[in-house]
Amino acid sequence: MLIRQKPAIRPSEITPESQYLDRRRFIRSASLAGSGLLFAAGCSGAGDEPPAPAPAPAAPNEAADLTPNSFADITSYNNFYEFGLDKGDPARYAGQFKSQPWTVTVDGEAENTGTFDFAAIVGPHTIEERIYRLRCVEAWSMVVPWNGIPLGDVLRRFKPTSRAKFVAFETVVRPAEMPGQRAGVLDFPYREGLTIAEAMHPLTLLATGLYGVDLPNQNGAPLRLIIPWKYGFKSIKSIVRISFTETRPRTTWSDAAPNEYGFYANVNPDVDHPRWSQARERRIGSGLFAAKQPTLPFNGYGDDVAGLYSGLNLVRNF
Ligand code: MTE
Repeated sequence: MLIRQKPAIRPSEITPESQYLDRRRFIRSASLAGSGLLFAAGCSGAGDEPPAPAPAPAAPNEAADLTPNSFADITSYNNFYEFGLDKGDPARYAGQFKSQPWTVTVDGEAENTGTFDFAAIVGPHTIEERIYRLRCVEAWSMVVPWNGIPLGDVLRRFKPTSRAKFVAFETVVRPAEMPGQRAGVLDFPYREGLTIAEAMHPLTLLATGLYGVDLPNQNGAPLRLIIPWKYGFKSIKSIVRISFTETRPRTTWSDAAPNEYGFYANVNPDVDHPRWSQARERRIGSGLFAAKQPTLPFNGYGDDVAGLYSGLNLVRNF
């Protein structure tokens, strides 16, 4: 973007990709798949409960290839500036980061506020599996089999008031464990925000894992957002604060370079970044000489989310 160890989980804990793909094929043939979303038992917190009813958002545009990237790609090519600027820094330096125990403070315009343990935040919800593409503003993308809970299901438990128009998020500040924070490469804490409608949208995921294991540190352990129709920088990692606000919250990248990174950050091939085109993207893992593929409006999720922005000029509100 702008500016200038040990593995977090043991290899034995990782579902081998072949087994993972077999499991997916099995789930499909057992007809548990619903309109592009799969619900998998056996993930942390899923217990023996039956799958939750599908929120039934449509699958992304047919042109969007949803073959997952390898676990190695997903966990070794990361943006997490708290651990450094290089894509390899998070995997290299996040091994000392402690993601348990974990608390999240919920404050602002809601009836139930306070500081909650990780388990209380996740609550009684069944952990789902969702295959989403993550399109980074830097014109690369990956497909990740995330595990998590719809953010809206979590937020509703805190009973936001009618004054809650936005939801703001903050990442943990722990310079002793995060070398990028010691180097001051950004104004930490990393901050992000969504409108309440975006936060409540059934596609918006509070992720707790990927490939069936808890989130590796470099991917934002233990809790991060995934908003699949927005550039990746909106998908804030290692969340410790959720605030319901009446006014639009500050966000890290809009503060750092407002002409380059907007609040909405909807994936839009027609609105170039001031320093590069957003029309195409490079799929990580497709090989150095592979052709770039066209970027889809809203990352292919337009049928589900374009309505959130009716009447809004998406060139000015980038
Ligand atoms: N969250 C925090 N706290 N710090 C970051 O630097 N980088 C963002 C986002 N969330 C970032 C963050 C960017 S630019 C991207 S593209 C995605 O995380 C990358 O997520 P990934 O590493 O899981 O691919």
